[in-house]
Amino acid sequence: MTTSTAPPATEQFARVLRHEHRADPYPHYARMLDRRVSRLDDGSWLVSGYQEIRQLLHDPRTSADRLDPQNTTPKAARSLLLQDPPFHDQLRRVVTQEFIPRIMGMRDHLGELVARLLDAHISAGPGELDVVADLAYPLPVTVICELLGVPTEDEPLFGSLARRLTRGLDPVDTQTEEELRELDRARGELVHYLEGLIARRRSDPGDDLLSGLMFHQDPDDVLDPVQLRVTLGLLLIAGHETTVNLIANGTLALLRHPDVLARLRTDPDLATPLVEEVLRHDPPVQMSGRSALADIDIAGTTIPRGSRIRLMLAAGNRDATRFDYPGRFVPDRRDNAHLGFGGGIHYCVGATLARAEAQIALTALARRLQEPRLVDDPPPYRENAILRGPERLPVAFARLDPDHTPAR
Ligand code: HEM
Repeated sequence: MTTSTAPPATEQFARVLRHEHRADPYPHYARMLDRRVSRLDDGSWLVSGYQEIRQLLHDPRTSADRLDPQNTTPKAARSLLLQDPPFHDQLRRVVTQEFIPRIMGMRDHLGELVARLLDAHISAGPGELDVVADLAYPLPVTVICELLGVPTEDEPLFGSLARRLTRGLDPVDTQTEEELRELDRARGELVHYLEGLIARRRSDPGDDLLSGLMFHQDPDDVLDPVQLRVTLGLLLIAGHETTVNLIANGTLALLRHPDVLARLRTDPDLATPLVEEVLRHDPPVQMSGRSALADIDIAGTTIPRGSRIRLMLAAGNRDATRFDYPGRFVPDRRDNAHLGFGGGIHYCVGATLARAEAQIALTALARRLQEPRLVDDPPPYRENAILRGPERLPVAFARLDPDHTPAR
């Protein structure tokens, strides 16, 4: 079996990470698909093919430990996302048992929150809205803070921490010394904040998710204090930094395809497949990682045991061997088993919630905004390459109507 060093793949990966390509990294992802599995100069492996990514997401010979040299946190103190079975499965069971029941029956409440956010901008004449700051960001933040029991007055403090911390998800060599120091400070502040919150809930429990995790019914499943804090941090960050991009990317797709926007206005059922297509076409989480616990034969090559693996979800989602017209935005695409929420045992815990928030927010925008148009196309993008999305999304409109239709 031959393994080839592939400077072009290394360069393609570097291009995807470069901020100048953030608005449209897709031509670079497309070129990665010429070779579905490539070795990078740093010894890690880049996987871009749909089937290959799926195979690795489901392969028990992969570990969720990304072998990130900068991550010096002891294994027991890492989040669910970086854990392997059997501990992963035990932890995930507790989290889903507490999380899923709390999000059932939430659609009406989500509809009210969206309505309230848009009501603040009702206008009988022309105006402008920043879809990120005015809707896409505050909606999931309010929802996750309510769910977890983060007091409303702490939301801004927590929001700024989340922003500072997500930069830490990007590859270390794309960050400056100062950024890395800043990251350490933000991590310290997060630990301090979460420990305070946990202490308050311990003496004054409520019916929120944090209290649920803390006093979980099955004593064998009770999380130790470190795991409780880490899990809380993961849910809060996931709730702050992902759905915002789904709603913003969805808005962008709608405004770039006025025919689809017009259809959604009269056919709210379109929201379900449309959000799936946004998750495929312009996914909020662009890549993930694993490591190989054994030699793994794949696509005619062997990823050696101990290697870091970079899974290019955004490339797999546009693999022409899996999706017809992969670069085209097809709002009612059938057979859309995209990789936007990952796959296998780490499949996104928040997928149902994120889908509901995006479906409701995009439908409300389509119904209430009259003659919307993008002020900047492309809009300015945030620094992050992995959790990728617009920094701001100013939209001009002729009118923003009151909400006439009851929430679905
Ligand atoms: C559009 C929004 C979202 C997207 C695109 C997204 C995407 C993903 C992806 C791709 C993974 C798998 C990562 C991997 O396998 O390495 C994941 C895992 C996860 N997500 Fe999400 N996510 C979103 C929203 C949320 C929300 C709102 C929550 C909860 C508040 C959440 C909680 C989690 C958790 C806890 C995991 C880890 C599951 C495990 O390791 O077993 N996500 N998400």
